[in-house]
Amino acid sequence: MAMEAVRGLELELEDCALPLLAGIVATDEPEEAFRDIDWALLIGAMPRREGMQRKDLLRANVGIFKQQGQALNKVAKKSVRVVVVGNPANTNALVAAHSAPSIPIEQFSALTRLDHNRALALTAAHLKVRVDQVRNVCIWGNHSNTQVPDLTHALWVNNSGQSESVLQALDQDGIQWIQNDFIPIVANRGAEIIKARKLSSALSAAKAIADHVRNWQFGTQGDQFVSMAVLSSGQQYGIPKGLMASVPVTISNGIWTVVPNLEIPEMIQKRINASIKELEDEREEALQFLSLIPSQ
Ligand SMILES: NC(=O)c1ccc[n+]([C@@H]2O[C@H](COP(=O)([O-])OP(=O)(O)OC[C@H]3O[C@@H](n4cnc5c(N)ncnc54)[C@H](O)[C@@H]3O)[C@@H](O)[C@H]2O)c1
Repeated sequence: MAMEAVRGLELELEDCALPLLAGIVATDEPEEAFRDIDWALLIGAMPRREGMQRKDLLRANVGIFKQQGQALNKVAKKSVRVVVVGNPANTNALVAAHSAPSIPIEQFSALTRLDHNRALALTAAHLKVRVDQVRNVCIWGNHSNTQVPDLTHALWVNNSGQSESVLQALDQDGIQWIQNDFIPIVANRGAEIIKARKLSSALSAAKAIADHVRNWQFGTQGDQFVSMAVLSSGQQYGIPKGLMASVPVTISNGIWTVVPNLEIPEMIQKRINASIKELEDEREEALQFLSLIPSQ
């Protein structure tokens, strides 16, 4: 059944006549799919069904991402870079990384670029400027509705090409807009799209994956930053060591660096702490499940 859908995708890829598409391997065997790869985009995951407990969803996905991590460990290039999209994306990325000990854990990430792009678009619309005039928004924490879209360090480029603070450009009601509109709209946008489409975001997710990979491969521009969920060092922004948390990063020569020393307002830090707590709880449960699943 799934292979029929894969065949459909294969036909569509051929029809795109992509000049860079050198070939397609259509398979449902991870060890065949991942052999000698440079990039792994892990999109397949168990979706939450009606009546399903969060724990059951986590358990099912731990099984999937353990298997995928083990296959990457066995057959992918040791330089492979991994982007986890399937939800719960941050914790799935952690499970895959734990299951692939021969691949440096810094090469695993989870996608929060879609949330980042949503924040850019909403800010540009609010300021009535083009989206490419806005930069340095960021997303902290989990790719869930506890995520923290943050405009503290966001800039917009005026018509003379100078960068100005977004916070200063917002009117007197700016803080209310951030708390009552901006943060909840971005954080719940995925659910809004599912309600409207009866399916999760697809086109915007594909665009965000392309943005994430392009920046990781070719770097970010100047001191502009982007958001991605990566391994926390335990040294910054009150995020404990060993979580896959979304943070602002710059990227150069294929290496991401967390933007250091940003001042974080108390209101934002409190929200970050709550999202990090959720990630810690997910990690604890996931690692328990992981230890229960026999290795292959
Ligand atoms: N991080 C993000 O920003 C973001 C954005 C959009 C979607 N998502 C998530 O991406 C995932 C995919 O979204 P979708 O709309 O395509 O969902 P979907 O339910 O339509 O597709 C999920 C696919 O995963 C496949 N699958 C199930 N078990 C698998 C396994 N063991 N190995 C490989 N594939 C398996 C299913 O057959 C199905 O085709 C979901 O988890 C969704 O929540 C994340």
